[in-house]
Amino acid sequence: MEFSDHVILGIESSCDDTSAAVLRGNKVLANLVANQEVHEKYGGVVPELASRAHLRNIVPVVELAMQKAGVTYQDLSAIAFTQGPGLSGSLLVGASFSKSLSLALGKPLITVHHMYAHILAHFIEDDASGIPNFPFICLTVSGGHTQIVRVQGPSEMEILGQTRDDAAGEAFDKISKIIGLSYPGGPVMDKLAKQGDPKAFSFSKPKVEGLDFSFSGLKTGVLYFLRREIKSNPHFIEENLHNLCASVQQAIVDILMDKLEIAAQQSGINHVALAGGVSANSALRSRFEQSGKEKGWTTYIPKLSYCTDNAAMIAMAGWFKLQNEALAPLEVRSDPRLPF
Ligand code: KG4
Ligand code: ZN
Repeated sequence: MEFSDHVILGIESSCDDTSAAVLRGNKVLANLVANQEVHEKYGGVVPELASRAHLRNIVPVVELAMQKAGVTYQDLSAIAFTQGPGLSGSLLVGASFSKSLSLALGKPLITVHHMYAHILAHFIEDDASGIPNFPFICLTVSGGHTQIVRVQGPSEMEILGQTRDDAAGEAFDKISKIIGLSYPGGPVMDKLAKQGDPKAFSFSKPKVEGLDFSFSGLKTGVLYFLRREIKSNPHFIEENLHNLCASVQQAIVDILMDKLEIAAQQSGINHVALAGGVSANSALRSRFEQSGKEKGWTTYIPKLSYCTDNAAMIAMAGWFKLQNEALAPLEVRSDPRLPF
């Protein structure tokens, strides 16, 4: 069988979305994501509730993905699942389900690193901006990670820089919470920022050496700034909501892009990609394109459905591992702190 004919079932359950996808080669036949709304009222993901929701969702989501893809379980070449990093209980549900299915069907099992998968989502055929050339640099920005990665090949990646404290998505979510927005704050802030002035307020940038990032100072800076303003005007947030969102968003985008530009220049690599949940941010996407034009980069921006967590990227990463016969034994375990 040609590799392009292999059918892979991908399972993603690292955080609060249960997702199943079926790919034939690098073509998506189905990609379903069940969002867990249960966390909204708590202003963040509650791990115990997340694992329970995965347990409820996983069988129907997989069955629906298989039906939508129009394939049978016997058609599968392999089952790929997120081994880590992520929430312990959430990962366990996906791992146990995938192992059981692999055992029952006698089909190979493949473990996938969640952050590798975010990057490899660029190889999905219907990804909007085309398939990247190796080597390329990828800014991977999610709720748990912020990394600049040099990508030599599907299994050859090196972290050039990463956050020393909060991730970019975490910064969006935590600052949104301070402002009083709903969870997850990133997309809400993005929407509100559209009607605001990004230059209305300025926040000091962290001084971090090399290609590493820091976002906790920005969070504290916004908190102190708001405390001061609210003292003289208790309605400061309501009256400045759009400008506040636009200015915070601008600060996060500037921190990310300044380092990415240095990384591209230092490495001499001008194929540059974005990946992860925060790459759905409209200001980041447009600044990235603008930098690409100015610096002469070939840019790769993921389709929105492949930015945030999805199982299509897990199946895609699994497909690369299948080509290298990198299969996992049934004893394999999920790992919340899986090293890169
Ligand atoms: O990659 P992802 O779906 O999950 C993790 O692996 O963490 O990323 C989720 C993060 C959340 O912090 C969420 O607020 C952020 O991505 N996010 C956004 C946007 N859409 C999702 N942040 C800013 N603007 C957006 N449009
Ligand atoms: Zn993710």
